[in-house]
Amino acid sequence: MRRLLVIGIGAGDPDHLTLQAVAAMGSVDVFFLLDKGTAPALAAHRDRLIATHGSGSHRVAVVVDAERDRDADAYQAAVQRWHADRADRLADAIDAELGPDAVGGLLVWGDPMLYDSTLRIVDQLLARSPGAFEVEVVPGITSVQALAAAHHVPLHDVGAPVHLTTGRRLADDWDGTSTVVLLDGQQAFTAVEPTDVEILWGAYLGTPDQLLVRGPLAEVADRITTERAAARQRHGWIMDTYLLRRPPR
Ligand SMILES: C[S@@+](CC[C@H](N)C(=O)[O-])C[C@H]1O[C@@H](n2cnc3c(N)ncnc32)[C@H](O)[C@@H]1O
Repeated sequence: MRRLLVIGIGAGDPDHLTLQAVAAMGSVDVFFLLDKGTAPALAAHRDRLIATHGSGSHRVAVVVDAERDRDADAYQAAVQRWHADRADRLADAIDAELGPDAVGGLLVWGDPMLYDSTLRIVDQLLARSPGAFEVEVVPGITSVQALAAAHHVPLHDVGAPVHLTTGRRLADDWDGTSTVVLLDGQQAFTAVEPTDVEILWGAYLGTPDQLLVRGPLAEVADRITTERAAARQRHGWIMDTYLLRRPPR
């Protein structure tokens, strides 16, 4: 039976790989790389992990990603079409490259359960061809864990909930509950009423370029915006995430 391993590779530090992920990578016959126009530095990190932890007899199949229609009015429908197209391309690659009883590997930044479409796409493949392969998911260190570790904080207040959201949803979602924001290219924190709000921000977490800023939102929002723009210019890309919360008393 063919197997497909979906492996979380952590948020940027090569040492984020768990022992389970290292073993899984060593058992992969074919790595399927979804070429999402990934930043060169991230692609290089992924390639180094494969070179270090792959079996040496593994192969790499690059699956060129589908174009996403970013102008479409209906966001959900556009994303569904994009995922279906991506599933077609991955299905073709698996049929062409993965022999019977072979092991395929899909590497996912951070962990596959957090703002990543890989597991939905794998589900689509299995819905089209039930039993086509067995699936195993290997968890990884998320950017959220890397953020909390870098700032030495728990995410939530004692016994209180925590909210995870995206930059595009923050304005609707922020209600004073401790909130972690990912996928924010617009610095949505600048639109939050800053009184009694603390921000713990991190970029390039787990990498040698890691940046951290923490403080009252009213005092550090401008500094984060400036540092973010300069870093993005310097590197040509940025990945950042942050926690908004009421300051602990
Ligand atoms: C598509 S989501 C993937 C999240 C990933 N699955 C995870 O477990 O962290 C990409 C977002 O994750 C966050 N992110 C991922 N890696 C990061 C890093 N090393 N430093 C800061 N933020 C990161 C950013 O908010 C980025 O926009």
